[in-house]
Amino acid sequence: MNDMTPRSFDGREYPYTPQDFAAVSAMVHAHSGICLPQTKTMLVYSRLAKLVRERGLRDFASYIDLIRRDPAERQRAIEAMTTNHTKFFREDHHFRQFERDVRPGLIERLDAGGKVRMWCAAASTGEEPYSLAMSLLGPDPVEGRVIAGADVAILGTDLSGAVLDVARRGHYPAALSQDVPLDLRQTWTRVSGGTMAVAPMLRDLVRYRRLNLLNAWPMRGRFDVIFCRNVMIYFDEPTRERLVQRLVDQLAPGGHLYIGHSERIGGEAARRLRAIGQTVYRKDAA
Ligand SMILES: C[S@@+](CC[C@H](N)C(=O)[O-])C[C@H]1O[C@@H](n2cnc3c(N)ncnc32)[C@H](O)[C@@H]1O
Repeated sequence: MNDMTPRSFDGREYPYTPQDFAAVSAMVHAHSGICLPQTKTMLVYSRLAKLVRERGLRDFASYIDLIRRDPAERQRAIEAMTTNHTKFFREDHHFRQFERDVRPGLIERLDAGGKVRMWCAAASTGEEPYSLAMSLLGPDPVEGRVIAGADVAILGTDLSGAVLDVARRGHYPAALSQDVPLDLRQTWTRVSGGTMAVAPMLRDLVRYRRLNLLNAWPMRGRFDVIFCRNVMIYFDEPTRERLVQRLVDQLAPGGHLYIGHSERIGGEAARRLRAIGQTVYRKDAA
């Protein structure tokens, strides 16, 4: 910081008012569904101050003017407000349930020449879709290769392009390998020089696309499995209800929906789903 750096009276680097917070909060909600209650006032300041600085602006009001006019900058600001925390095999009971109750039916279908489509709707940096891919392929590399060669695909989407760049690389700090069950880790990951890389076959199984869940979805086909975990917690009730309705529409009859541990299915969609485990739902076959 040099002598020319602007300071607000309350000691922050940039002037920032309750009106600025309200404007950012309204814009983020309108474009991403993410709710920013007043308790997030300082979080908004700390995440956006960096962008205000990078743009060489004097205050938040000027930055808000900019993001109103410039969709690319608005996207950067919204991405800065996302929380991308994730983990390999997070909420591992989902993967155990998938391997035990869902995978056998999917493998049978692939063996018979059918297709399997799965979707991680808030994929973040890729740990979740790669965990699902490992659970599908299983620990045996020979069987895994046969499955990967069948008509199977996993789609990973997220609002944030930055996290998807990490996901596509499939490289993680080596310490994260501890989150992967040993047998799957040995088959589908390699650790070298402090980096854990997921196997190319696993990477090829997952396609990543940027997608805002609030906008229109370009996918035409339905999915056998949808993971939409730990993103609805950031949305308000009407947004959550609309999203779950659309997820159920996008689910094939008999397909499975997995949501985060603190998320709930409410409204009309609940009538179209059967709870079959802890935050696991099956859509009734048509
Ligand atoms: C906490 S992470 C959850 C990652 C993973 N599903 C898990 O449970 O570990 C939430 C992700 O949701 C994404 N997100 C937030 N709002 C979104 C929206 N409107 N559309 C798509 N993704 C969104 C964020 O960018 C972030 O990567």
